[in-house]
Amino acid sequence: MPPEQSLPLPILTDRFNRHVDYVRLSVTDRCDFRCLYCMGEDVQFLPRAEILTLEELLTLGRAFVALGVRRIRITGGEPLVRRDLLWLLERLSALPGLDELTLTTNGSQLASMAGGLADAGVRRLNVSLDSLQAARFRDITRVGDLGRVMAGLRAAQAAGFARIRLNAVILKGRNEDEVIDLVNFARHEGFDLAFIEEMPLGQVHTHDRAASFYSSAQIRDDISRHHALTPVIDQTGGPARYFRMPDSAIRIGFISPHSHNFCEQCNRVRVTAQGRLLLCLGQEHSVDLRAVLRERPGDGEALRAAIVAAMARKPRGHDFDLARRPQILRFMSHTGG
Ligand code: 5AD
Ligand code: SF4
Repeated sequence: MPPEQSLPLPILTDRFNRHVDYVRLSVTDRCDFRCLYCMGEDVQFLPRAEILTLEELLTLGRAFVALGVRRIRITGGEPLVRRDLLWLLERLSALPGLDELTLTTNGSQLASMAGGLADAGVRRLNVSLDSLQAARFRDITRVGDLGRVMAGLRAAQAAGFARIRLNAVILKGRNEDEVIDLVNFARHEGFDLAFIEEMPLGQVHTHDRAASFYSSAQIRDDISRHHALTPVIDQTGGPARYFRMPDSAIRIGFISPHSHNFCEQCNRVRVTAQGRLLLCLGQEHSVDLRAVLRERPGDGEALRAAIVAAMARKPRGHDFDLARRPQILRFMSHTGG
């Protein structure tokens, strides 16, 4: 048999012939921060009964992996505030067929959890870090303690993760003067660094997104004045476009939903903490997997069939526009990044 025939075919394929092999699972909508671009100060969290149980999350993970999914990223809210998360992670990482379990965190609990996460089989971490100045960090997150996140980053380094990536959202008038400081910090510590353009997810009345928009192109200009950036040839297929510097091993990424349409290569879907399968971060198309889990418990076939059928609803792409008013009403904390 020719070798390509012995490879399992991807089973999740949408109408545009994109293969879905990556799932982001949100394990909670709760968070111990209140980042001003992400949620209102007085955010209402979901009642517990609405949230998938750890067993339901494991059942979902198993179904996705059986359908050819190779990578799962755990997100929130802040995933590390979910009780007994390690129970889930140990089981997900052991699923045969899964290549990689990763996690996105705000870092607030990493100092105590990094070792446990590594032992549970998490291979890579993304840690949000928008400022290196304690007072500013507090302003942007409303409550966050920079010292704790720094201690968390050190614990993550000591725990030996294969790669740690910092995520920074740059806002005009808040932290745009820290681009170079963030780059130099990442270089010094050996972290990758991704700059994410703010996306209009959920309405935050105290925050004007159009006014604070700071583009990836602008950030690249800022960096280029200090460090030469050359594009990385071997891109990962995700939305980030990566660059290298001549004198550093780290990568600098840009996630630019407003200027760079990465939808053509999209290989991912998301599951909200309530078990809504979202086919696109920038659209509302979704399928209620919690209903299948709760109405037909133990029926793996029904669950897999619902996921396969959902692929027909994956839209061609997102449609973000900062000038228009109500767009995507759900917050990133419901969506899982
Ligand atoms: N636009 C862009 N990034 C956001 N994040 C949260 N809300 C938004 C938004 N509206 C970021 C967090 C974290 C990552 C998972 O998503 O800062 O780094
Ligand atoms: Fe929490 Fe992340 Fe939202 Fe900040 S961006 S409030 S850390 S979920």
